[in-house]
Amino acid sequence: MAAPQVRRADFLMALAYATDLATGHSRDFALRSCVLAMRFAEVAKLDQETCRNIYHQALLRFIGCNADTHLLAAAWGDEITLRRELHHIDMGNRPEFVEIFVRAIKRKYPGASPEELEEAVKRGLAEAPQVNIPILAGHCEVAQRIAERIGLPPEIRENLGQIYERWDGKGLPRGLSGNAVKFPVRVVTLAQDAIALNDHHGFAIMKEKIGKRAGGGYEPELVDLFLTNAEKLFAGMDGPVDREMILALEPVPHAMLDEDASEEAYLAIADMIDMRMPFTFGHSRAVAELADAAAKQMGLPASDIRDVRRAAYTHDIGELAVPVSTWMRPGRLTERETDAAQLHPYHGERALASLGGDGKSVAALVQRHHERLDGSGYYRNSRGTDLAPAARILAAAEAFQTAREARPYRPAMSDAAAAAKLRNAVRDGKLCADAVEAVLTCAGQPARRASAERLAGLTPREIEVLRLIAAGDTAKEAARKLEIAPKTADNHIQSLYSKIGVTTRAAAALYALERGLVQHGFSAA
Ligand SMILES: [Fe+2]
Ligand SMILES: [Fe+2]
Repeated sequence: MAAPQVRRADFLMALAYATDLATGHSRDFALRSCVLAMRFAEVAKLDQETCRNIYHQALLRFIGCNADTHLLAAAWGDEITLRRELHHIDMGNRPEFVEIFVRAIKRKYPGASPEELEEAVKRGLAEAPQVNIPILAGHCEVAQRIAERIGLPPEIRENLGQIYERWDGKGLPRGLSGNAVKFPVRVVTLAQDAIALNDHHGFAIMKEKIGKRAGGGYEPELVDLFLTNAEKLFAGMDGPVDREMILALEPVPHAMLDEDASEEAYLAIADMIDMRMPFTFGHSRAVAELADAAAKQMGLPASDIRDVRRAAYTHDIGELAVPVSTWMRPGRLTERETDAAQLHPYHGERALASLGGDGKSVAALVQRHHERLDGSGYYRNSRGTDLAPAARILAAAEAFQTAREARPYRPAMSDAAAAAKLRNAVRDGKLCADAVEAVLTCAGQPARRASAERLAGLTPREIEVLRLIAAGDTAKEAARKLEIAPKTADNHIQSLYSKIGVTTRAAAALYALERGLVQHGFSAA
């Protein structure tokens, strides 16, 4: 079978969705800015290479902004609200940005007296450059590194090193000015600010503000061209932007990722998610290692093993929607914060939705990673039959890894204590016994039984055949999909029937259904 290939642009969209959440941007902000910037490129009759640079800069501009978020949160409190308020102001205008930072400090100390607040504002503004500049420089470097890992060429990486620079030299961290700021950077900064201003103030005020900033944040010539064509550029921009539009905008040749490159792209996403605060460093990689090993031990088919590993890399991508200031706070979350936090598997599935193909089964697992067999998980309160073996393994691996990591409101558990916690969850009907034992054995914990049982002793190939026939395929159709001889498929069917103790396709289908082997969103083969 040929190695699956995916469009790199699909990964860019997943990253764009996640960074829009983390930076408080409006829905599909990066995608809409990509459409606007590419329309501008067409109006300006830019060459193919410049268009390619603009396309990537628009989608990826903020991919490094998850780095050191805990420092930003420690200094200013709710960093997502702060970022949201900064999007539509002129960062070269000191009174404007001071007002936003003062507001952030007031939010951070809600019960402070006027004197305490005055002191906090004075201290915060005095320390702002030491706090903000290294963080912003870090965003640029991290963006460049992620871009390198997903295979983007040097010129695109160079643009990502200038995401906060401005035409007038008042940008950060290097204070570049004029033509020293790369042309694609100048175009995308203008396009993204125009989207943010249009979202916040409407079309007329957006145009007025962009015009006033000519020669400040933006190159005057670009502002002229933009304002002359503003109606045309914004036509239909209030409507939705979908995956196909973004794929169609990518300059040819379209970049494809093979199996190894896709794996590295998933890993890059894992690292990007985990670096938002020290508590989560390495979390997704560790969950993936456990889930991968447990899935192998349970004898799942190769495609399931790959899906569960990739789902583990990306399972917390939706957590970026919740401010780090919330995650970092010791003590209980408020009801509203809990609701928002428990929606992160939903956001995770949405972020991965653009991946198409195999990405759908990865997204389905991400959506279920906090579900429990008895329906007590979140966010959909799914139950056992909706939870395939891969989903059960991911839930167990995630729960074990999280328990042995420290959190602001509790210390890390020892491996033995974490194992006991998981076995209690099995006893309470929440986690799957087989999945938990497989995870614990793979984590080096003494096994409760010789080894976690495979599903009725089925081989990976028999599981694949079972899924297909349970979904209605004949032996012949299953043979064709799995690229095996019909006789071989028949042998697998007889063998699996006898192992699970059935004699009919209907009973086999019910067995598969009961164990979550057939359901929408999971790959059948
Ligand atoms: Fe997690
Ligand atoms: Fe999670």
